[in-house]
Parts: sequence; C-alpha cells; structure tokens
Amino acid sequence: MASYRPYVILSAAASLDGKIATKSGDSRFSSGKDKTRVYRLRATVDAILVGKNTVKRDDPILTVHQVKGKNPIRIILDSRATISTKSRIIKTCNKIPTIIAVSKKASNKNLEKLRKFPLKIIVSGNNIVNIKKLLKTLWKLKIRKILVEGGGTVNWEFVKQNLFDEIIVTITPFLVGGKDAVSIIEGKGFSQITKSRKLKLEKILHLENEAILYYAKSK
Ligand SMILES: NC(=O)c1ccc[n+]([C@@H]2O[C@H](COP(=O)([O-])OP(=O)(O)OC[C@H]3O[C@@H](n4cnc5c(N)ncnc54)[C@H](OP(=O)(O)O)[C@@H]3O)[C@@H](O)[C@H]2O)c1
Repeated sequence: MASYRPYVILSAAASLDGKIATKSGDSRFSSGKDKTRVYRLRATVDAILVGKNTVKRDDPILTVHQVKGKNPIRIILDSRATISTKSRIIKTCNKIPTIIAVSKKASNKNLEKLRKFPLKIIVSGNNIVNIKKLLKTLWKLKIRKILVEGGGTVNWEFVKQNLFDEIIVTITPFLVGGKDAVSIIEGKGFSQITKSRKLKLEKILHLENEAILYYAKSK
C-alpha cells in the first residue's frame, strides 16, 4: 500500500457482459446474498466513494444496512456541488458522516446550499475532482481504507491513474448488452493491452448463480 493514500478497493456488480447498469440505468444486478456480502465489506472500510451520477441515478444510502458494524463515511465526487439536497445522502448526513468532494468549478451558490448541512466539503482540483490530491487529504483525515463503488466513469479515473489496490467484481447471470449501457470501466480506455492494468486473480467465490472475482494489482 502506498503510504500517502488510503488502500483502495474497487467494487462492482456486473452482468456477464460487463455492464454495471442497463441502457436505462437499472443497476440492480446482485442477489440478496451478494448484497449482504457487500454490506459486510462496507463495515470493514473507513469510507465508501461514488460518483455524482450514481447518486443521481440510484439515490443510494451507502450504509451497512442490516449487517452489524459501523457505517463508513460516504464520499461523493461532485465537481460542481450539484448533488440534490433531497437525495438520501444529504438527508441522512446528520446521522452518517458525509464528504462532498468538489473542484474549483463549484459555484458559491451551490456551495452555500450544501454548507447548510452537517457535512464536510473538500475542494480538490480545477475541473473534475483531483482524486490523487483528494486521497492525500483523506489520508490526513486518518481514512486508511476506501471502497470505491463506481460508477464506470469514477472507476476509470482510479484505474487510469493507478490509484487502486484491488477490484472485486460480482459476475451476475444476466446478458444486457447496449452500447450506451455503463460498463465496469468507462472513460477513454487504454489503446493497447500492454498499456492496460494487469491484475492477479486472488480468489473466486461461488455464490449460487454468481461468481465473485477478487483481483489484486500484480506486484
Ligand atoms: N452495478 C454496480 O455495481 C454499480 C455501482 C455504481 C454505479 N452503477 C451505475 O453506474 C451508473 C453511473 O455511472 P457513470 O459512469 O455514469 O457515473 P459515475 O461514475 O457515478 O459519476 C461520474 C461523475 O462523477 C463526477 N466526478 C467528479 N470528479 C470525478 C473524477 N475525478 N473522476 C470521475 N468522475 C468524477 C463527474 O461529474 P461532475 O464533473 O459534474 O462532478 C462524472 O461525470 C448508474 O447507472 C449507476 O446505477 C452501478
């Protein structure tokens, strides 16, 4: 683990063809058992991080739900501070610690709206949130382990910048297709396999009709 940043685990539930949502944004791929596994995993990390589109689309609460354990801090990447104050993340920020990571593009109007809530705003980067800088700040806040739960655009930034340590993907028994359906990793992508990230398969968990793949970065 790099000493300047938290340990980063990417996590996703995908269709057999690598999509994490259908073309209309339906992302409910996981079985109940797999969801419980994810809740348990959440209870072992200091923070969960997702992108703005995931909040907009799924309105997640990002807690450990019925599993015993502490709710991790929720971190939302939202350059322009546009998160809806009606989202479940904002509505519950008085009970669960919440960080909104914005960039210098966030308007004062949007920031003022968020400052009315008991949450922490971290400004990092000029355009989109600078995740390298953000991770350094989170490290200083004693956040040592983060679960990145997407979506594909956020996952790509962590992969592109090599700012992750492992990836856990649940392969679910659905074939959804669709060139506009979001994949595990979005963004521009690598043009050559030799330049892409090569991982090492550490473990496979067979959960009824799902396979959970645990890959770590090759050392
Ligand atoms: N099945 C699963 O496991 C799973 C998990 C999560 C999400 N999903 C699905 O994924 C879909 C959303 O994925 P998505 O790719 O459209 O969006 P996303 O990754 O959730 O959010 C991307 C947005 O985050 C903001 N952002 C700020 N700083 C960033 C940075 N440094 N790097 C990347 N993004 C940054 C950007 O908007 P601004 O610049 O405007 O801030 C960007 O457009 C939804 O349909 C959701 O249901 C599925």
